[in-house]
Amino acid sequence: MKLLVTGGAGFIGSEYVRNLLQGSYGPSEADVTVLDKLTYSGNLENLASVADDPRYTFVQGDICDADVVEQLMPGHDAVVHFAAETHVDRAVHGPAQFVQTNVVGTQVLLDAARRHGVGRFLHVSTDEVYGSIEQGSWTEEWPLAPRSAYSAAKAGSDLLALAYHKTYELDVVVTRCSNNYGHYQFPEKVIPLFVTNLLDGGSVPLYGDGLNIRDWLHVSDHCNGIQLALTKGRAGEVYHIGGGTELTNRELTELLLAATGRTWDAVRPVEDRKGHDRRYSLSIEKIRNELGYEPQVSLHEGLARTVAWYRDNRSWWEPLKGRSL
Ligand SMILES: NC(=O)c1ccc[n+]([C@@H]2O[C@H](COP(=O)([O-])OP(=O)(O)OC[C@H]3O[C@@H](n4cnc5c(N)ncnc54)[C@H](O)[C@@H]3O)[C@@H](O)[C@H]2O)c1
Repeated sequence: MKLLVTGGAGFIGSEYVRNLLQGSYGPSEADVTVLDKLTYSGNLENLASVADDPRYTFVQGDICDADVVEQLMPGHDAVVHFAAETHVDRAVHGPAQFVQTNVVGTQVLLDAARRHGVGRFLHVSTDEVYGSIEQGSWTEEWPLAPRSAYSAAKAGSDLLALAYHKTYELDVVVTRCSNNYGHYQFPEKVIPLFVTNLLDGGSVPLYGDGLNIRDWLHVSDHCNGIQLALTKGRAGEVYHIGGGTELTNRELTELLLAATGRTWDAVRPVEDRKGHDRRYSLSIEKIRNELGYEPQVSLHEGLARTVAWYRDNRSWWEPLKGRSL
């Protein structure tokens, strides 16, 4: 089995590659090619622990570059597609790159996968494609109603992937997950931003009234779900991957203050993000019943591990803080 993993030098992609090569998904004969442009959020240090593994190859390149993708695709049995522009705040100020990478890049990959007869294409999508939900939880059939350039571009790529299944019978599986957290997450996203600011004795910016609700998913649980969907999911299907723990941003902030020994004095209320979705909530019944997925890492344990990792790995995140501004 030879896998092409796009965006494998980012937060979630690198967790997947490390786990796969270190045998977390069982003994595997998988060879892995990582294709990553190494944008500001891509970092080869995330893959340092597998860099010498003979089953691993790294290629620096852009998924939008049809020549690069054309050369790389032959011989791969499956694609696991993580590469994307991912930060909603950046999309507010510069949507063009989001459309280019997330929509055009995905189409370039799908086209090459189709022409070269790739056996499975797993597209990593997001719960943000559904917009915002006041009550209840989304199921996989819910209509898409994205509200930011990030989520609109992700919805475009998600629907393109499903269209390639319907039109060309490409074996596509789409996963839509909730908010990930864990080690190696770029310190622009809320949990590592808050943790690193708090560890440094600084303040943390809390959007609006702080009552926006997110479902938190440990990155290792997300990658377990991806592996299940890749190996056991049905072609043409969408699977939700969630963590089952919903919190307001205020509640999350309280937990992070407690974990870093800081108090509410460190919280700086700031104007709400434009178009800030109020609540995300995924039903994970389908992947639970069909593929046996169950999140393993409680929020309590996951946050404690994450804070400890950022405390112990300053040399990883300190150079990145400048890049995130
Ligand atoms: N982090 C989350 O909470 C979350 C939630 C839902 C869905 N997702 C999805 O999961 C995937 C991975 O997210 P992440 O948090 O690891 O993001 P990340 O920003 O940490 O990593 C993205 C990676 O993609 C690479 N990349 C960007 N543009 C590229 C291009 N044109 N060509 C090749 N490589 C490129 C970057 O260099 C980086 O290594 C994304 O598709 C994202 O939409 C993430």
